[in-house]
Amino acid sequence: FNLELIVQPLQDWFAGHARVLPWREDPRPYYVWISEIMLQQTRVEAVKGYFERFITELPDVKALAECREDKLLKLWEGLGYYNRVRNLNAAAIQIMEAYDGRIPDDYQELLKLKGIGHYTAGAIASIAYGKPVPAVDGNVLRVISRVTCDDSDIMKQSVRNHMEEKLAEVMQAEHTTVIPGVFNQALMELGATVCVPNGMPHCMECPWQNLCEAKKRGCIESLPVKKKA
Ligand code: ADE
Repeated sequence: FNLELIVQPLQDWFAGHARVLPWREDPRPYYVWISEIMLQQTRVEAVKGYFERFITELPDVKALAECREDKLLKLWEGLGYYNRVRNLNAAAIQIMEAYDGRIPDDYQELLKLKGIGHYTAGAIASIAYGKPVPAVDGNVLRVISRVTCDDSDIMKQSVRNHMEEKLAEVMQAEHTTVIPGVFNQALMELGATVCVPNGMPHCMECPWQNLCEAKKRGCIESLPVKKKA
């Protein structure tokens, strides 16, 4: 399966179908970072209001670094997983001290920040800075498993690493048409709105309906494979 084939239809689809979201209108690094952390365990619709309130109260890295814990927890109240906001504060302090208040644009530097893993580093580097690095979350694992008809167990770290490497190759290929921030967000968006996990995916609306291997072979329902707990 040639992953390069999926790029143009996907990016064209995203141009016409991307949801309007507050952090998309102005994808500055700080907004991408805050929104991606909020979105990790919370649905888009629920995040919108929290995001607006958070950036109004704490408009930049400096404000976040200087914010008292009681106020931080208040801003996060209802989102759960409170370590996320403690990590945001700790990382903001790191950014003030080590990077003069500027969120790094380098994937490896981003990984050094508290609470930032491969997914978030990839999202910030690609969406805010246009760097060709993947951002692989559950949505992306599902749509790639399906379009390539790959029955590897996506709960295995080795399988996730392999998909990440394959996507990195596509994004970093010499003559690629990939626009990193568009490509990564389009993969997530396709998983969130079309190639959905439970029940029937909306294949009639999919930009890949004619090249999806899972659809061709009728095995969409059985993918992705998730075994290891
Ligand atoms: N879920 C998490 N981050 C997202 C993004 N940037 N676009 C769409 N869905 C997402």
